[in-house]
Amino acid sequence: MIEKKISNLNQLEALAKECVSSMKKAPTAQLLFLKGDLGSGKTAFAKKIAHVLGIQETVTSPTFVVMKEYQETNHSWIQRLVHIDAYRLNNKSELEYLKWDSYLRDPHTLILVEWPEMVEGVDQGSAARTLSFQLSENQKERAIQIT
Ligand SMILES: Nc1ncnc2c1ncn2[C@@H]1O[C@H](COP(=O)(O)OP(=O)(O)OP(=O)(O)O)[C@@H](O)[C@H]1O
Ligand SMILES: [Mg+2]
Repeated sequence: MIEKKISNLNQLEALAKECVSSMKKAPTAQLLFLKGDLGSGKTAFAKKIAHVLGIQETVTSPTFVVMKEYQETNHSWIQRLVHIDAYRLNNKSELEYLKWDSYLRDPHTLILVEWPEMVEGVDQGSAARTLSFQLSENQKERAIQIT
């Protein structure tokens, strides 16, 4: 387990960069589970990931639409970003209904899932990691645990 302390958005971007450059091609999609309370910085991190991948489109929170897909990247082999907010889902079968398998089977896709607790037990493929975001008491710093 690695723990990083983040106190501004530049440091969050540096972490996103590190995360992307440490990804290794796998038979299935790259998958990052983003855990943490409301406002702990999951969507902010997703925006930084999109930026690192060279996605030009504005990334907004998928809270109301559940899932958003971005196709144009400048990364050598990650060609698609799928951003999911599972907050409103009731169980993993609702996610499976949303093309989960076709995304997961694509080695050129990076999937980010906010609120993975809502879809516990969903198939993770071979390249899954979890980032847990925690706001400090004074709300100035965030601790991010990577497992
Ligand atoms: N590392 C950071 N440094 C400074 N501000 C941050 C950082 N991370 C997040 N923020 C700010 O905190 C606010 C809430 O963050 P964000 O929307 O990413 O939370 P979230 O975890 O996605 O919440 P939700 O569970 O509601 O989706 C945003 O305004 C964001 O810009
Ligand atoms: Mg969010």
